[in-house]
Amino acid sequence: MSGKPAASERCNRKRRCFAPSLARIFRFDKGDVPLLSFGIARYSAQFHAVIFAVQDSNMSYKLTVNGRPATVDAPADMPLLWVLRDIMNLRGTKYGCGIGFCGACTVHIGGRAVRSCQTPVAAAVDAKITTIEGLSADGTHPVQVAWQEIDVPQCGYCQAGQMMSAAALLAKTPKPSDQDIDAAMNGNICRCGTYIRIRQAIHKAASLSAPKSSSAAEAASSDRSGR
Ligand code: FES
Ligand code: FES
Repeated sequence: MSGKPAASERCNRKRRCFAPSLARIFRFDKGDVPLLSFGIARYSAQFHAVIFAVQDSNMSYKLTVNGRPATVDAPADMPLLWVLRDIMNLRGTKYGCGIGFCGACTVHIGGRAVRSCQTPVAAAVDAKITTIEGLSADGTHPVQVAWQEIDVPQCGYCQAGQMMSAAALLAKTPKPSDQDIDAAMNGNICRCGTYIRIRQAIHKAASLSAPKSSSAAEAASSDRSGR
């Protein structure tokens, strides 16, 4: 049998092929192509202009940072990190990875340690935000005192984030075990490897902030550390 299709098959194929009809409907001359391209580009540009306008439009946000009210104009999706550093000039909070992995940008929102690089400013409205500058007015927060006494930092870049995570841990767990510390500080990276001193400083801060002579508090504390 030859490979050539029968006449009836050739006829069917022709009927199923839409190419000639489409060519008749959308018949462009060469000269139409620039006009068509211009139309597509124009609509595309208008579409993108709308998208960028929505993304770039600033809004006013009322924040409470370190106990002080502040109003900032920023796009809704601007990370809190950039609002703090670039708009409010609070440069103690550091930019490390920008993707939530290093902890250098840690601040407190409502007492919880959060990554400010991953927190849009719109999500921080009406919440109490604390940065390293607001941990205490005079450097007497137990974490600050312990960090100095143990001489924790090496290059220092990660330490604001480390201290904010440590302070949040101690607020929740006043007498943390090594395991508590490791779990809470797990996401804070130190390229200088100061982890051992960080752990010592957290224990030191816990001892500094522990109540001096309350048997009830001691009992509660030993309950917690007896895990
Ligand atoms: S800069 Fe935010 S987690 Fe690294
Ligand atoms: S002290 Fe250098 S990165 Fe931690």
